[in-house]
Amino acid sequence: MKGLLFTGAALLALTAVAAAQADPIAQRRETMKGVGAATRTASQMVKGEIPFDLGQAQEVLKVYAVAADTMHTYFPETSKAGGNTTAGPKIWESQAEFRAAFDAWAKDIRQAADETKDLATFRASFGTVTKACNACHNSFRIKT
Ligand code: HEC
Repeated sequence: MKGLLFTGAALLALTAVAAAQADPIAQRRETMKGVGAATRTASQMVKGEIPFDLGQAQEVLKVYAVAADTMHTYFPETSKAGGNTTAGPKIWESQAEFRAAFDAWAKDIRQAADETKDLATFRASFGTVTKACNACHNSFRIKT
């Protein structure tokens, strides 16, 4: 039974990897759409439009953390065009810099997760981690 369960989990993981490889443009766009949705929820909390919820705030940071760790794997050489991508050429010209931008973001996100205890601390850390959005987009996306 244990062996069977492991096989099931391993298969699921492999299927996910295969899906990402099959369509990395869709995968990275979906990942960023998730980041966009999380950001909308977070800004509503920060502005007081919806009540602050610590679990939800940490969930937003979790979505960011997963994106920061996985995004760089969805840019094979074969995915420079198509699928309505807005990925810019600089991603492939300066791959180390692109990867470093995600790593720096991941570091800020981990710190934000540690520091977020209530609305005031979340407001501050949310402000820090969202500076990376436009900074990265301005360098690594084409204007549409
Ligand atoms: C280090 C780089 C980087 C960071 C940081 C980053 N993004 Fe992105 N984002 C990208 C790239 C590259 C694309 C283009 C993907 C494509 O079209 O293939 C993108 C695309 C998007 C999209 C469009 C998705 C779609 O519909 O195709 C949204 C929305 C988005 N990002 C939101 C955010 C928000 C909000 C943040 C910050 C909380 C953020 N991103 C941080 C690199 C980044």
